[in-house]
Amino acid sequence: MRAELLQGLLATPAFTSPKYLYDALGSKLFEAITELPEYYPSRTEAAIFEAHATAMAALLPAGATLVDLGAGNCEKAARLFPIFRPQRYVAVDISVEFLRKSLGSLQAQFPALAMLGVGMDFSSSLTLPPQAGTGPRVLFYPGSSIGNFTPDQALTFLRQARAACNGGGLLIGVDLVKPAEVLQPAYDDELGVTAAFNRNLLPHLNQLAGTDFRLSDWQHVAFFNTGKSRIEMHLQALQALRVCWPGGERRFAKGERIHTENSYKWRQADFAALLKTAGFTHIPAWTDERGWFAVFWAQA
Ligand code: AVJ
Repeated sequence: MRAELLQGLLATPAFTSPKYLYDALGSKLFEAITELPEYYPSRTEAAIFEAHATAMAALLPAGATLVDLGAGNCEKAARLFPIFRPQRYVAVDISVEFLRKSLGSLQAQFPALAMLGVGMDFSSSLTLPPQAGTGPRVLFYPGSSIGNFTPDQALTFLRQARAACNGGGLLIGVDLVKPAEVLQPAYDDELGVTAAFNRNLLPHLNQLAGTDFRLSDWQHVAFFNTGKSRIEMHLQALQALRVCWPGGERRFAKGERIHTENSYKWRQADFAALLKTAGFTHIPAWTDERGWFAVFWAQA
C-alpha cells in the first residue's frame, strides 16, 4: 500500500487513489457531503429507490444475499431490507472501524437478519470470504461509486461483478451527464465540506506513509472535464514546497497539483451498453424526472 502510494506521489502529474479519502474522519465528511444542498446524487438516488424499490424487488432473486459494496453507514441498504427481504447482508468497506460501528448498531435494529462485515478494497478483487455464502447474490453498488473508475476499469469491474454474483445480479446507481453549472458546485460546495473531505487526504497520507504534508499549503480544486465526462478533484500547492518521507521526497512547484479523484458521469444508454458488454442480459433502469441519476438492475 505504501509503495503504491509513494509511486503515485512521485509521478508527474502526481496522483493518489480515491480510496485514501476514507479514513474514519473522511467517511464522516463524506456523510456530511451527502447532506449538502449542492450534492444532488444521494438525494436523487434515494428518491428513485423510494419510488421504485417495490418494482425492483419483484425482479431480484428470492432469498438472495445482499452484498453492499462500499457500505459506509449501511443506511441505503437498511432502508431496502423490509422491501428486498434478503436472506443475509454482507457489508463491504475499506474503512473498517467505521463499518464496524455501523454494522453493530444495524444488527441491533435487525436482530433476525444474518450480517457479515468485510473490510477490503474490492476495487482490485471482488472475491468474498466463504462466510458470504454460495447462493445467488444481489451486489448492491449505489451512489455512483462506479464513477471513480475509468470506463476501461469500470468494464473490468462489471465483468468481475457478474462472475461474483452467483447467478444473481447487480443493482447499481450511476450519476448521469448534466450541465456543468449543476455538477461543479456539487463538488465545490459553498460551506467547504468537499474541500475538507479532499484536504483530509493529507493527514491520512502522513499517517499511512510518513509524509510531512502541511494542510495550510494545499487548496481544494474541482472542475468538470467535459471531454472526459468526469469531475476531477485535485489538491493544489499554494507555494513551491517539498514533501519528505522516510527514504524519499517530492518537490512541488507553486500551483502544481495532486490528482485525488475522478467522478465519471455517464449517459444512460452508454452505461446500459457497458453492462451488456460485461455480459449482463436483462437490464431495466429507473431514473428521476430530471434524468440526473439512474439505477440499473443488471441480471447475470
Ligand atoms: C462516493 C465516489 C460516489 O464521486 O460523487 C463526493 C465521492 N467526492 N464528493 C462522488 C465524492 C467528492 C463520490 N463517490
